[in-house]
Amino acid sequence: MIKVYPSILACDFERLAEEIAEVEAAGADGLHVDIMDGHYVPNITMGPVIVSAVGRAAQVPFDCDLMITDPLHYAEVMAKAGPRGFFFHPETVDDPQAAIEKIRSLGVRAGIAINPDEKAAQVRRLLAEADYCLVMTVFPGFGGQDFVDSALDNVKAARDAFSGDIVVDGGVSPETAALVAKAGANILVAGSAVFGREDRAAAIAEIRQAAEAAE
Ligand code: DX5
Repeated sequence: MIKVYPSILACDFERLAEEIAEVEAAGADGLHVDIMDGHYVPNITMGPVIVSAVGRAAQVPFDCDLMITDPLHYAEVMAKAGPRGFFFHPETVDDPQAAIEKIRSLGVRAGIAINPDEKAAQVRRLLAEADYCLVMTVFPGFGGQDFVDSALDNVKAARDAFSGDIVVDGGVSPETAALVAKAGANILVAGSAVFGREDRAAAIAEIRQAAEAAE
């Protein structure tokens, strides 16, 4: 079954709680929260204060993608907000296996995030120990980027190696939803394709239908 997780990076932050309630009413299965620190990626987004607000507002599960150089410290700080889990980028830690265990010890899922230039063999190796994975279909840093077609190979490699949740993030729209679902993704993150539309229910339904038709 396909799930759609709007990425709040694309929401109107002046109305954060209302935006979350709107997409939940529109059929969102969960939410995706992009944490960026201006070091690992050239952009700064949300920190613990906003994640805590998301935790209070959200009725559905939410995942945080830690696009930061110190994911374990901030995972500990932000776990109190009640996310379902954290994705970290393996190159930001000394020991990915230890990072997975540390995140799990916080009582949440530990996920590996895979950038488009990651090699399939590396993807398989990292996935062996993770609870779920995030395959990036754009290079991390900004919403609204074009989908990177070559990242579909990582979705396929992940699905070949792993039976758990494979989340895709970046440039997901009704057009690209079919491609990622066919490659094996089951949770689709979409920012601009949901929050950029007036009719969020139609946006979510179109992504879900396109993906389910291609599965
Ligand atoms: C990139 C971001 C985006 C965001 C989704 O670092 O992580 O992928 O969640 O944005 P759209 O759907 O606009 O590509």
